[in-house]
Amino acid sequence: MRIGILTSGGDCPALNAVIRGFAKYAYSNIKNVEIYGIADGYGGLINGEYKVMKREDFSGILNIGGTILGTSRQPFKKMTIEEDNTTKVQKMVANYKKWGLDALLTLGGAGTHKSAALLSAEGLNVIGLPKTIDNDIYGTDVTFGFHSAVDVATECIDRVHTTAASHGRTIIVEIMGNKVGWLTLYAGIGGGADIILLPEIPFSTKAVCKKVLERAEAGKAFSIIAIAEGAIEKSEEKLKKKEREALRRERGDTTLTNRLAREINEQTGVETRTMVPGHIQRGGSPSAYDRVISTQVGAYAGYLCKEGKFGTTVALSGDKITHNKLADIAGKTKWVPVDHPLILSAKSIGISFGDD
Ligand code: F6P
Repeated sequence: MRIGILTSGGDCPALNAVIRGFAKYAYSNIKNVEIYGIADGYGGLINGEYKVMKREDFSGILNIGGTILGTSRQPFKKMTIEEDNTTKVQKMVANYKKWGLDALLTLGGAGTHKSAALLSAEGLNVIGLPKTIDNDIYGTDVTFGFHSAVDVATECIDRVHTTAASHGRTIIVEIMGNKVGWLTLYAGIGGGADIILLPEIPFSTKAVCKKVLERAEAGKAFSIIAIAEGAIEKSEEKLKKKEREALRRERGDTTLTNRLAREINEQTGVETRTMVPGHIQRGGSPSAYDRVISTQVGAYAGYLCKEGKFGTTVALSGDKITHNKLADIAGKTKWVPVDHPLILSAKSIGISFGDD
């Protein structure tokens, strides 16, 4: 059986752990298996770049961040655009057939899954694997990479506490997640943030300032705010993404985080700084938890290949590993429910979500 494997979209910890888990399963359980490592995500499948992998390529990579295969972003909406009488999808189908692949494993996030569903509808034997620090893939409790990013983002929030407390400042930590707030929610609670701002709960700057002042009046001269990259202020709630960005530019604030810092400074008199950990959150070694689930996810994808269960994606449900149909989950988003138990319990201990 000849199986192609690619990693697509933003890199994250544990991609290599999944690749290794799959390869170990495949070499032990699938007869005459050959693994084609496709370079740079769908980019390699489009442009015909791959390497026939050897067993040793999969050794010593469990704890290595990034991806040994390379990755790229190939937007879903460009997949079917015709250029020179062909499309990216057609090129991918052609290469899959030319290489004689029996199956294709796509490790990636929401966009990757949409393209995987497209390839599956074209008749390719595709299996998706749920990767993303955003944890927003529909139908799985957790995605690999998420908990490693939670650990890093939590440490970032931890570490700014000392400066905030020593100087009596408010520090806003901008956490990755341009659409959903899972990472900010977990890291915010894990890092002891006083205010957590998520895309799913548009916040009022007034409520944020009120919380900062309440803390100051209660003798806590500092506050820590965890804000998601994609957070939304109430005044922007009805705007489309592009309109929001234009409005922010017009107001002279490159990001909402910067604007919030300025407003808190002006409205409360508390010195307010910002901190953007950025790609640190996606970098480095996977956590032990991610290594464990990724080994399991990779092996399960091997099992799906062996059993011929294609057009599927691996999912975690409680402590069980299972799969969904690609067609059922592609294009859907796993938002943070506004009444999620974590939010309710955070509110019960006085954490503000800027909506009160
Ligand atoms: O999807 C993962 C993610 O890290 C998002 O949280 C973030 O908004 C985006 O990728 C950043 O992507 P890039 O590294 O391509 O700028």
